Amino acid sequence: MTQQYSRALTGTGAPMIAPSILSADFARLADEAAAVAGSDWLHVDVMDNHFVPNLTLGAPVVQSLAKATDIPLDCHLMIDDPDRWAPPYAELGAHNVTFHIEAAADPRQTARAIKAAGARAGLALKPATPLSDYLDVLREFDTLLVMTVEPGFGGQAFIDAMLDKISQARRAVDSGHLRLLVEVDGGVNDETIERAAAAGADCFVAGSAVYGAQDPAAAVRALRDAARVAGASA
Ligand code: DX5
Ligand code: ZN
Repeated sequence: MTQQYSRALTGTGAPMIAPSILSADFARLADEAAAVAGSDWLHVDVMDNHFVPNLTLGAPVVQSLAKATDIPLDCHLMIDDPDRWAPPYAELGAHNVTFHIEAAADPRQTARAIKAAGARAGLALKPATPLSDYLDVLREFDTLLVMTVEPGFGGQAFIDAMLDKISQARRAVDSGHLRLLVEVDGGVNDETIERAAAAGADCFVAGSAVYGAQDPAAAVRALRDAARVAGASA
């Protein structure tokens, strides 16, 4: 067992599952949150049609959703200028606010502003962005989001080459250099979650694998069980 230290940060000692509402029905978001009761976080993909080509939702929807569910909101900001726009998401009720290093001018200061506003701070890396360049910056963060697809769209295939980045992050946490959750996002399903868990991830975002299932809550439980088994035998 190599994952005790960070898993302790999850609060439950178990792998965390964060269903992504990108694959939900946007006209029924409160119902769709209720459909995944028992999830650890609810992942909210904010896209601005600049940092990524897609456009989804923003602060007013996050504020309403925070009032409509007890599941902590995990906001993944795929937006330009997060230094300016990320801290307000903490103020309006997000539990975790993650922004992209590729878009940030002053990631340390932005992390501090998010934490001062009462949320956890997360840093996301696109597939081509190496972890090694950011091992010091990440000391300011509570979460590292390793993108296992190109950000912008749900339903893409998991990029296996990212398993090495997950393992590097795991080692940085286990060595004590970082103290954060290792979260993976993109193409996570019953099969790929085993590899991501074995590589050392703590938290798993899943959009189509949850909301494409007949019973989304059962899909969350199945994903968590698969991650627990694979993570324990790693
Ligand atoms: C992609 C988003 C993901 C997306 C994942 O840019 O960040 O959170 O919802 O969807 P799946 O699980 O379908 O790959
Ligand atoms: Zn996401």
